[in-house]
Amino acid sequence: MPSEHRLILKHVDQPGYTPDIQCYLRHGGYETLRKALALQPKTLPDGRVVSPQEQLREEVMKSGLRGRGGAGFSCGLKWSFVDRRSGKPIYLICNADESEPGTFKDKQILYKDPHQLLEGMILASYANDVHLAYIYIRGEFVEGAKILNRAIAEARANNFLGKNILGSGYDLEIYVHRGAGAYICGEETGLIESLEGKRPYPRIKPPYFPAVLGLYMCPTIVNNVETLAAVKHVIAMGGAEYAKLGTPNNTGTRIVCLSGHVRRPGYYEIEVGKVTLRELIFDPAFGGGLPDGRQLKAVIPGGASAKVFRAGERIRLKRRGPDGRETEQELDMLDLPYDFDTLVAAGSMSGSGAIIVLDDSTDIVAALANLSDFFAHESCGQCTPCREGTLWMAKALHRLTHGQGRAEDADYLLHIADNIPGGRTICAFGEACSWPVQSFVRKFKDEFIARGAAVAAKQTTPLAENEVAAAPRPQTATPPLAAAH
Ligand SMILES: Cc1cc2nc3c(=O)[nH]c(=O)nc-3n(C[C@H](O)[C@H](O)[C@H](O)COP(=O)(O)O)c2cc1C
Ligand code: SF4
Repeated sequence: MPSEHRLILKHVDQPGYTPDIQCYLRHGGYETLRKALALQPKTLPDGRVVSPQEQLREEVMKSGLRGRGGAGFSCGLKWSFVDRRSGKPIYLICNADESEPGTFKDKQILYKDPHQLLEGMILASYANDVHLAYIYIRGEFVEGAKILNRAIAEARANNFLGKNILGSGYDLEIYVHRGAGAYICGEETGLIESLEGKRPYPRIKPPYFPAVLGLYMCPTIVNNVETLAAVKHVIAMGGAEYAKLGTPNNTGTRIVCLSGHVRRPGYYEIEVGKVTLRELIFDPAFGGGLPDGRQLKAVIPGGASAKVFRAGERIRLKRRGPDGRETEQELDMLDLPYDFDTLVAAGSMSGSGAIIVLDDSTDIVAALANLSDFFAHESCGQCTPCREGTLWMAKALHRLTHGQGRAEDADYLLHIADNIPGGRTICAFGEACSWPVQSFVRKFKDEFIARGAAVAAKQTTPLAENEVAAAPRPQTATPPLAAAH
């Protein structure tokens, strides 16, 4: 039977569990930190001395923990890239921007168990010789910022932060920095610019890899809230034990955000790869199925920028069995195990862990128009393909949903979406804004063409003024179709 495996959310939502430090301490809080700070250098048989910090970093590497912010990059590997020889300070930034539409998992940790995040951050900071760390929290989380500031004050009062933490000689300060509510502030280099007090224009990589040239041009680690909370459990359990959770290369637990047309939307913590999309949507332990009488139409498996799956879509996957042999398998998209690698192999991604379920009542053209409006609004505007492309796509979709579309708009949308990603932009927003358009239009092309064709037929008589919605629209010019083709 599929079920939740609550590790990070173990205490969250239990009656009487509160975000204050006394409650956290009663539940064993800060014990892992206490043990980590007491670690001694270890001498290996070959005479090499491994410092406590290196031992902690090794545990994280062994755990196979992958970032929960979107890209699923190895946490241990990211830490190994940090330039430790520059002589500059090393910074840790907790990315609490949580701005991917459909995602609401970090909020559960921030609001309900802030000390768990702080303990994870202190451990990560100690392991990486960090003495100053930041939590960059999205502007809309007003209450979250207050809760964190209260938790930081409590941790400092109990000597888990500040000077000479628990008598170890280690000093660390953590500050909360509130964003102003822009999606691009979640992108790590845009976030760093914003933290420096500037407009959040993402930086180009290379050379601005945060591990080398991050905050104030110093080596910087940027990790997601859930990743840092997981670090606490990796150190508590040991890397090898943590790696037993989940599946090979997709270890541990992750919090999935289920929204849209399901009976039981919400957040569920699962072992990575141990639960399928079908179970997450239909099992009574999770989504509990669709509303009465409705059929599944589509699933967005990893936040607004993930490519959509169409109901009934068959996916061909190469999979390696326990004997190491590779076989090819054809699966219904619902039977994909929810992990990092399988969803990428299936042409999408688990991204920020946000599963958005769409039933047959969904107007797919309107759904994409909604997503595209978001991306057009949030592009930072530095790169021409992204700045102009997001607006052109949003305008074409607005035409289609407001009675002014054309049958060619489906191809027009693909033409634009195919020309934004692929190294033409500074940051991955270029991909993020294109993937929904590419996948929605390719997988539901009939609906886009039909919408445009229906309008074209209707346009033999001129549209009445009141047939066009008067929603405010972006003002840049849309190129003529002929020029775009
Ligand atoms: C447009 C865009 C928005 C992003 N938004 C977030 C976000 O809200 N929260 C987050 O943790 N990561 C976000 N990311 C990913 C971060 O750039 C970064 O990879 C992540 O914080 C690293 O943490 P992790 O390795 O622990 O996942 C975003 C990336 C892009 C391209
Ligand atoms: S891809 Fe878009 S969001 Fe990213 S830097 Fe370029 S214009 Fe800004």
